[in-house]
Amino acid sequence: MTDSVPGPVPGSVPGPGPDLDPLAAWRRHVGPCVLLDGFHALKHALRFGAEVPVAVTGDRAGALALADELAPDVRDALDGLLAEVDHETYASLVPRPHPTAVVALAVRPPRTANLRALAHLPRRTPVVVLDQPRNLGNAGAVIRLAAGFGAAGVVTTGTLDPWHPTVVRGGAGLHFATAVERLDVGQLPPGPVFALDPEGEDIRGLKLPDDALLAFGSERSGLSRELRARADHLVALPMRPQVSSYNLATSVAMTLYHWSVTGGANQGS
Ligand SMILES: C[S@@+](CC[C@H](N)C(=O)[O-])C[C@H]1O[C@@H](n2cnc3c(N)ncnc32)[C@H](O)[C@@H]1O
Repeated sequence: MTDSVPGPVPGSVPGPGPDLDPLAAWRRHVGPCVLLDGFHALKHALRFGAEVPVAVTGDRAGALALADELAPDVRDALDGLLAEVDHETYASLVPRPHPTAVVALAVRPPRTANLRALAHLPRRTPVVVLDQPRNLGNAGAVIRLAAGFGAAGVVTTGTLDPWHPTVVRGGAGLHFATAVERLDVGQLPPGPVFALDPEGEDIRGLKLPDDALLAFGSERSGLSRELRARADHLVALPMRPQVSSYNLATSVAMTLYHWSVTGGANQGS
């Protein structure tokens, strides 16, 4: 504990002032900010430079013990940020209490900054394009994969909001490690489009370039006509006869892995 961090704050009692009362800060920021649900989401967001105006926990000692064990690199930041409230108050801030009893709000990166990052050339790592995805959990899992492989960004087309709270939950706070935006097919960043489709050329004979846009179709209907028209190559993942397709996030995982082992920019460095 540090002196600057307030102790437990009962939910119904106003805190000492606007800057020291975590619930007042919460109310001020909750509208425009992104919800980081759980210790790991907050840890990742801090690691990748997210601005976090407020973080709340029902168990400060437990959260700091987790930081000591799993994330000493952000322990000091957490120590300065985490305000303790009673568990009931914590639970009132989240859709479903997380086992770590940690929740925070982060400022969403400006769209202009993400668009600049996506358009930046030369591009050293691919951009993942999800063409009209439907499933929020898949989108979150893909953002987590993209972050893990150091992809330049994740672009979605269609109506799904890639910053939807459920997607952010599935992404484990890793939206801040890559550029995540929704665009029309006509607005995609420059670069050769390698679109994944079971009818394409076997990926095992291909090297995917670092500046590729790796595009994946929707869970329900595959690649849209617009995306197919923009594609430079159709690429297939190996699959035995009679199996129709893989899950979307699984397909992204295999494709990024293939990129990484066929000469992709150094991973993990
Ligand atoms: C669940 S699949 C879509 C299935 C859909 N019913 C269809 O008609 O294509 C989602 C996306 O994952 C990718 N995918 C799945 N299996 C694949 C495979 N064997 N080869 C290449 N891409 C695949 C494709 O981009 C596909 O559009």
